[in-house]
Amino acid sequence: MSEYLPGLAGVPATKSNISDIDGEAGVLFYRGYPIEQLAQHSSFEETTLLLLDGELPTTASLAAFDQDLRDNRQVKYHIRELMKALPATGHPMDMLQTAVASLSMFYPGTECLTSTEMCEDLNYVHNMTVKLIARMGTIVAMWQHLRNGYEPPAPREDLSYAENFLYMLNRKEADPLLAHIMDVCLILHAEHTINASTFSTLVTASTLASPYSVIAAAIGTLSGPLHGGANQRVLEMLNDIGSPDKAEAYVDKKLANKEVIWGMGHREYKTKDPRATILQGLVTKLMNSRGGSTNRLLETALEVERIVEDRLAHKGVYPNVDFYSGILYHEMGIPADQFTTIFAISRSAGWLAHWREQLGDNRIFRPTQVYTGHAKREYVPIDGR
Ligand code: COA
Repeated sequence: MSEYLPGLAGVPATKSNISDIDGEAGVLFYRGYPIEQLAQHSSFEETTLLLLDGELPTTASLAAFDQDLRDNRQVKYHIRELMKALPATGHPMDMLQTAVASLSMFYPGTECLTSTEMCEDLNYVHNMTVKLIARMGTIVAMWQHLRNGYEPPAPREDLSYAENFLYMLNRKEADPLLAHIMDVCLILHAEHTINASTFSTLVTASTLASPYSVIAAAIGTLSGPLHGGANQRVLEMLNDIGSPDKAEAYVDKKLANKEVIWGMGHREYKTKDPRATILQGLVTKLMNSRGGSTNRLLETALEVERIVEDRLAHKGVYPNVDFYSGILYHEMGIPADQFTTIFAISRSAGWLAHWREQLGDNRIFRPTQVYTGHAKREYVPIDGR
């Protein structure tokens, strides 16, 4: 019997050449490119194509991909009607999972997934990928209006992915700095090796389920507070703490009660997550653009980081990607319960790159278990128990 490792910690679940993490050094690469360079020079559209195809695109292939994304932003009105039927009080991640799963009814496409043969039709994979990524931003932005009782604005084709998302969310064109910040956030969240939701992607993909089912499964997995749901909880935590002077007592009480500090710790990183460093820089940039005003949330966050480092550095617990993204989104006027949906929009790029990789060399996932139940025993009729 092989050794059982809880949480499959350190157990390779696949071979992949999409991204890589050096958790000791705190570095992240997409297809070999450091995340810092992509955040500085790339766009979400280009990074997505890099993740999917494995190489930085030429001008022509990027333009064609970008145009495909723009052409696929519309969603059929049936989906809008379906979304209207959902309770406004529901969590946006549940809405997103429902709406994405419903896409398979309106935009079917399983033609490449009908046998145990590998799916080698890259046009098919490309088309399904574009259909999903392009529409996820539209769906999330539409929900902001629908849940408040208003018709959403139509997507625009003359804007980049990040610009269109913010335009649809706010019904007005975004300030260029905010559009740039959103673009960088989408790049930073796009991929992260075999985390829980990507593993879920692989498992569902391995059954040759439709890509809509694959992404709906991944969205459900991302929604949990130990994964993507942590960014919303970071903001709630910082608001609960209230001010930097209360951070120490708060952190110590949580640790004494064996509770987690949201946005801290990571299975892979034993130092500060490089994405947290970039996001922290973006918060400062945004604050400086507003005259360098002090920010209670940021000051509280910095103090929480200092105290957690003091208490937990020996366990390798430092800020992860969710620690500063919540502050950033909040300062951009985005409601806290939409933070994780933005994460999902972005991560759809990585999930679909892994979907493609899985289809290229597929074998259904079927792990084993360590049985800890009863040995064989005889059934006892109900009146004899
Ligand atoms: N707050 C307090 N203690 C933490 C912690 C946190 N956020 N993250 C890890 N630790 C502690 C654990 O309690 C454990 O202590 P122990 O060795 O005394 O039992 C030690 O650090 C190692 O952590 P472990 O639970 O083995 O890490 P993991 O790889 O199983 O879990 C997370 C990783 C992300 C689930 C975990 O760090 C966590 O719950 N973080 C908060 C949620 C979050 O921000 N999630 C977003 C991740 S991007």
